[in-house]
Amino acid sequence: MDKTLIFAHRGASAAAPENTMIAFQKALEMGADGIELDVQLTRDRIPVVIHDEKISRTSNGTGWVKDLTFRELRTLDFGSWFSPDFRGTRIPALEDVLVWAGPTRLQINIELKNGLVPYPDMESLILELVERHQLRDRVILSSFNHDSLVRIKQFEPEANTAVLLMERLYQPWDYARSIGASGIHCYWPACDSEMIRQSQNNGIAVRPFTVNRKDVMKKLMQAGCAAIITDHPQTAFEVREKHT
Ligand code: G3P
Ligand code: CA
Repeated sequence: MDKTLIFAHRGASAAAPENTMIAFQKALEMGADGIELDVQLTRDRIPVVIHDEKISRTSNGTGWVKDLTFRELRTLDFGSWFSPDFRGTRIPALEDVLVWAGPTRLQINIELKNGLVPYPDMESLILELVERHQLRDRVILSSFNHDSLVRIKQFEPEANTAVLLMERLYQPWDYARSIGASGIHCYWPACDSEMIRQSQNNGIAVRPFTVNRKDVMKKLMQAGCAAIITDHPQTAFEVREKHT
């Protein structure tokens, strides 16, 4: 059985402000195999790395990402909300992360945050960046918006997509396959070892989120899931070393 990979959720987001370059760098240093990040589009259609549609929780600004230009967003502080030690941290463009990740061996899970704001052309803009940086083999594209995952496969049949699920589904591997996805990223209480086993036997990788408890990490790793997505990559690394 392959080792369960460890993906750092929004980077090492318990140790640094989420979805920033410092959080991704820390994830790499902690031994993560991959990073998970969230993407929204600016007014000038630049894919930027931020979880919320609005910027007030994680910056010193206010408003919607969709209404601000990339240049405007870059003047803001995306670190102080987390700790004064990170004052002056800037929002990354998706391209900044792809350039940085290029020389690493990290897998990159890009979550398209287009469930509330529709963001026309988001899929093709992201696919174009992934292609330009030759990262297709290391990128997983996920979304709660499954229409968007279907569009991705229409644009790029080779893309590696994963459905995000908050709830249980009947035979989710069949559903994932029906829309061309090769992974299921499920809220961890909504999956169990049998679902993991059957999905993976059917060729669908299971990567539960957001797994921060040691006992759950151990259980999921022993169930053989392809990856876990966690805010605590270092803890996950220790659990994997000890228990698998
Ligand atoms: O991609 C897994 C997980 O990040 C989905 O939920 O809200 O943390 O983006 P959220
Ligand atoms: Ca996410």
